[in-house]
Amino acid sequence: MSKLQKILAGIVAVCVIFFGFVVVRIVAAPNDDSVKLAKIPADKQLGKEAYKDAYPLEYESFMMNNRTDPSPTGYGGSMEGNSHLEKQPEMLENFKGYKFSVQYDDDRGHTYAGVDFKNTKRLPPQKGNCITCKGSYMYDVYFKESGWDYASKPVAEAMAPIEDDQWFGCSTCHDPETMELRVYQQGFVEAMARRGIDVNNAPHNDKRAYICGQCHTEYHFAVADDRVVHPYDNGLSAEDEYAWYQSDKANGFKGDWVHPDSKTMMLKAQHPDFETWSDSVHADAGVTCVDCHMPYMRKDGQKYTSHWMTSPLKTTQESCLKCHDESAETLTARVKTIHDNTYKLQRIAGQTVAQAHLAVKAAADRGASDEQLATARAQLREAQWYWDWVAAENGMGFHNPDKIMRTLGESIDLAHKSIESANGISVQ
Ligand code: HEC
Ligand code: HEC
Ligand code: HEC
Ligand code: HEC
Repeated sequence: MSKLQKILAGIVAVCVIFFGFVVVRIVAAPNDDSVKLAKIPADKQLGKEAYKDAYPLEYESFMMNNRTDPSPTGYGGSMEGNSHLEKQPEMLENFKGYKFSVQYDDDRGHTYAGVDFKNTKRLPPQKGNCITCKGSYMYDVYFKESGWDYASKPVAEAMAPIEDDQWFGCSTCHDPETMELRVYQQGFVEAMARRGIDVNNAPHNDKRAYICGQCHTEYHFAVADDRVVHPYDNGLSAEDEYAWYQSDKANGFKGDWVHPDSKTMMLKAQHPDFETWSDSVHADAGVTCVDCHMPYMRKDGQKYTSHWMTSPLKTTQESCLKCHDESAETLTARVKTIHDNTYKLQRIAGQTVAQAHLAVKAAADRGASDEQLATARAQLREAQWYWDWVAAENGMGFHNPDKIMRTLGESIDLAHKSIESANGISVQ
């Protein structure tokens, strides 16, 4: 080897050692964003407190759900006693004879799920199935022990053993051993399986919607055994779900109550947030509930997922502006416009439905027979379903403006048809 070759070989060797060292450093460097898995004692896994020291950023942000702030748009928000019945008195007529005309408040943060449930005037005489969406107790304790048996128990008996810390604990969304997301609400798992989707083997991004969708969705309790059932088989629109309730698939479930004025069998819709989101522009772009409602945050260089699940417009920078170029003000104004339009049509639909209940009653008072009233009642039942589907949805139009507007349009049309049908009945 010549002197020159020796020098060159030396330089190569130094370079190899240097870059090798750099590569090793990069690969071996601790990842700032990685989370160290902690062992949570088995008897503490259903709560929150035992997770506090191991996952301080997630814990602290989850506890921000205790805050009682209004929404920046003036719709929704997380306040005590934010009564729908006071703001939309047509609900008193439309839910007459049913628990929702007694108390019906806007939703609050997850940390209130237990206390709000225990205090609601709608509670007695409900059954155990109502606790299905208030934490993982019903699954980890009851369901694992004896399947859906808890669903038929008196609610007081079902909730008696649940400690305060166990309502909506960390295990509500996480497997406490691995901290992986887990979708386990069995009604949802079964309904999605009927749609050909195995939720727990779904792509990770889809799970970031299912984790919320398992509770934020329409359901009813089965006639046979009180289990939670979701009407997904025909599709996820208000029309598809209505068709399901009108078919044999509902297995004898006809509705929630008979309205005392119109004597019509009514359906109560429950928060179809998953359904509205499912075919929105955002869902099509792969944007899930978690992207908006649980954005990534940074604290002292540590990246973490915000667990303050509230209006994303309280964190517009992190929730929206990672994708959108508009200013926070422009985007918030856009959302508010969608809300204003939705609310206006929602009120018109609700008020027209209320008039239809009274028109059907007036026709019956004039002597119209059940047979004569059948058409008006069928139109009324469907009209109210479309109105309620939107009114019970939590995004006030934003999650899917097109779908929401179509649904309200159908409600208004059918409510007018019902009024016409009732008024047109001639009685000898
Ligand atoms: C309503 C559902 C929900 C609840 C309740 C919940 N989490 Fe999470 N958590 C999530 C989601 C969604 C993610 C994002 C996970 C992903 O995409 O892989 C997450 C991520 C995490 C991570 C991974 C690191 C990170 O920040 O992304 C940790 C650790 C964590 N959560 C801890 C907790 C703790 C502790 C609690 C209880 C105080 C809790 N979580 C309650 C939904 C939840
Ligand atoms: C176990 C059932 C369950 C799961 C899972 C769940 N939620 Fe909820 N969520 C609720 C209930 C119940 C409430 C109402 C609590 C109350 O009003 O006391 C609620 C309330 C909310 C609110 C209202 C907060 C406010 O400021 O008004 C938001 C936003 C929300 N959830 C988003 C989500 C998101 C996003 C996910 C998924 C990461 C999710 N939820 C998962 C049951 C659930
Ligand atoms: C593209 C972002 C985005 C996605 C995706 C999204 N949301 Fe929302 N959500 C919003 C906005 C914006 C509002 C209205 C907030 C406001 O007016 O302050 C909202 C409102 C809500 C509310 C009512 C909050 C309150 O203050 O009462 C709930 C509950 C909710 N969303 C749940 C969900 C669930 C569950 C999913 C997924 C199935 C979802 N959202 C998907 C942006 C999103
Ligand atoms: C991960 C990326 C992403 C995030 C996060 C996101 N968006 Fe979007 N948004 C999109 C895409 C993509 C579209 C569709 C745009 C298009 O087709 O031109 C869209 C469309 C919209 C539209 C038009 C909706 C319609 O129905 O026509 C509005 C308004 C909007 N976003 C508001 C928001 C707000 C408010 C937030 C935060 C709460 C948000 N977005 C978060 C990607 C995102």
